[in-house]
Order: sequence, then C-alpha cells, then structure tokens
Amino acid sequence: MSTAHTTLDQERIEEFQGLAVTEAAAAESAACCYLGDVLGLYEAMAGAGRLTSGELAARTGTHERYLREWLANQVSGGYLIYDADDGTFELPDEHAAVLADPDSPAYVAGIFPIIAAAWASADRAAEAFRTGDGVGWHEHDPRLFEGVERIFAPLYRHQLVQDWIPALDGVHERLTAGARVADLGCGHGASTIVLAQAYPASRLTGFDFHAESIAAASKAAAEAGVGDRVGFEVAAADSFPGEDYDLVCLFDCLHDMGAPVAAAARARRALADDGTLLVVEPQAGDDLTDNINPISRLFYAGSVFLCTPSSLAQDGATGLGAQAGPSRLLEVLSDAGFTHRRIAAETPFNLVIEARP
Ligand SMILES: C[S@@+](CC[C@H](N)C(=O)[O-])C[C@H]1O[C@@H](n2cnc3c(N)ncnc32)[C@H](O)[C@@H]1O
Repeated sequence: MSTAHTTLDQERIEEFQGLAVTEAAAAESAACCYLGDVLGLYEAMAGAGRLTSGELAARTGTHERYLREWLANQVSGGYLIYDADDGTFELPDEHAAVLADPDSPAYVAGIFPIIAAAWASADRAAEAFRTGDGVGWHEHDPRLFEGVERIFAPLYRHQLVQDWIPALDGVHERLTAGARVADLGCGHGASTIVLAQAYPASRLTGFDFHAESIAAASKAAAEAGVGDRVGFEVAAADSFPGEDYDLVCLFDCLHDMGAPVAAAARARRALADDGTLLVVEPQAGDDLTDNINPISRLFYAGSVFLCTPSSLAQDGATGLGAQAGPSRLLEVLSDAGFTHRRIAAETPFNLVIEARP
C-alpha cells in the first residue's frame, strides 16, 4: 500500500512521525544509559556537583572524548544539567536517586541490563514468532538475571515487609513467631533475603529451576549474613520439596511458568492447613484497554521478549503473559484449588494476591 496518498492527514503523519523519532531517541539513548550504568558514570556523578568532562574522565578512568558525546546525549535527554558558562555537567540528586542509588525506593537502573538482554535475544525472538517455540529463561543473556534482581529488589526492600506482608491476614504474626517459608521462582533471592532479614525466627527456602540463579542467591544470602536461616535449592515450582509451609511465595514468576496452575496446586499441597500463598504479579487491568500506560507498555515489552517465551518453552506452555490481569490470575488460583483468593494490595507496579486452601 502506498502512503504517499493525498487523502492522508498530513498533520497526523507529522504528529506521529514526531512521536516515533522521540521514541527512537529514547530507545537508542537507553544504550547510552547502559554505558552510564556499567562504566559507573552515574555513580561518579552522584553527589559530585558540577563536573567537567575531564573531571568525570579522571574519576571514572574513561576517555574524555567519548564522555563528551555521552554527556551531550544525557543533557539532551534531560538526565543531566549543563552549565554553558563553565562547561560543567551535573546529575541532580533527584536523578541520582533514580539512576545511582540502589538503596533508593526510586532506583530503576536495573532496567538497562534488562533492555540489553532483550536486544541480545531479539533475533531469537523473531525466530520464535515464526515457529511458535519458546525461549527458555536460562537461554537469555546473563544480564537479564542481574537486571531482574536490581529492578525488583528496591520494591522488596521498601514494600514487601512494610506494606505487602501486613496486608495479608495474620502472616506478619506468624513470620514474627517463626514460620516455614518457600519462595518459588526466587531468582537471585532478593525477596527471600529481605524476608529473612525482617523475620529472624523464620526459616526460608528459595527454589528456582535456574541453577545459576540459585548459586547467585546462595552467595547473596551469605553476604547478607542470613545464610544460617535461608537455603536455596534448584527445583521447579510444580515439584519443589517440603510440606507444612506457613507461607509459599511467588514473586513475579507465576506468569513466566509453563504450567502456572500446576505450580499453584503444588504450592497448595505444600501449605500447612492454615498456610497462605502470596502471589505478586505485575500490575495490570483485565483488558488491554485498561493497560494503555507506560508501565504496562514496559511490562508488555518484557512479556514479548522474556516472560511469554519462558512460559512457552516449558511443559504446559500456558503463556499467561506479564499483563494477565487480576481476573485471570485469580482464575488460575481457583483452578489450582484455592477457595479463598483476594487482591490484598496494589501498587503502580504490582498486584499482591493472597490465597488460602
Ligand atoms: C522474572 S524472574 C523473578 C525472579 C524473582 N522472583 C524476583 O522477583 O527477583 C522469574 C523467575 O522464575 C523462574 N522460573 C520460571 N519458571 C519456573 C518454573 N517452572 N519453576 C521454577 N522457577 C521458574 C526463573 O528462573 C526466574 O528466576
């Protein structure tokens, strides 16, 4: 079809072309942000006030000529402030909280390695679109696993114990008294470690079918000083070992699984009679029309490259997708035999679901 047609709305073309170019600038600049992250440029600029390119080069062991281009890109994107009078660049403290401080609740720099990993698997994704095959979680560029930990850990550190656990009926009290906890699909164990730190009387085991993630989680638990009460084991969610857990958790992983009903059903059988299942999933409405916003857009992109291929690579190949929405998620739990199911809390990024047998 030719679009050089005189009946086309030229104003609409220009408006959309402007949007497409703006988006392309942001997309290519994400690779610059990746450099800012891996080279420690944001970190070096955090709290440093105004720096020249030469000063930043000296602080980071990088070449000034390259930095000048990078700094210009960051200024044009609104990430840095440029002072034309003295030729200095500044990362405002508020931007540093987002880009350079892993302890900040606003920190999102973990997205850059995830974007890098998505690009690294783009051709593989194209092939999967044609064949319908999945792409296993373990087949991705390892930057994915690091990025997932870095993007989710701030949510767990600032919301899990403060808001999500108290939203569940009686769970805080049980964890305080000493509970048995299983954290399924635990990845690098960020959620498991946060719970272990907050509830020293509890015993926790993180399970994941990705052996490299389990190795990283064990190392992180030892470094955090909770290795005595946290264990990590390689296991699939639908066949993890153990019984009589007071709490079984699934943090941002149910939708990545090939057989989410089987995983939730195994969790139900592993729970003590009055135990609780906690499912944390990406925030979403039930319908695409509910999800036309930047956060859902980000989740849909992750779903295209990472979540849906992961599910389609496994037995069951359910392909829930990262924006399944509350009704579909509660239906999965119903199919798994949970009679009590409710949305216990919501945030801009997450749905927090409580279920009981
Ligand atoms: C998006 S990551 C979330 C990791 C971690 N829960 C977190 O919040 O940081 C999804 C995790 O689910 C794991 N996973 C996917 N399918 C699984 C399955 N069937 N059994 C066990 N783990 C699974 C992956 O290996 C990956 O670590």
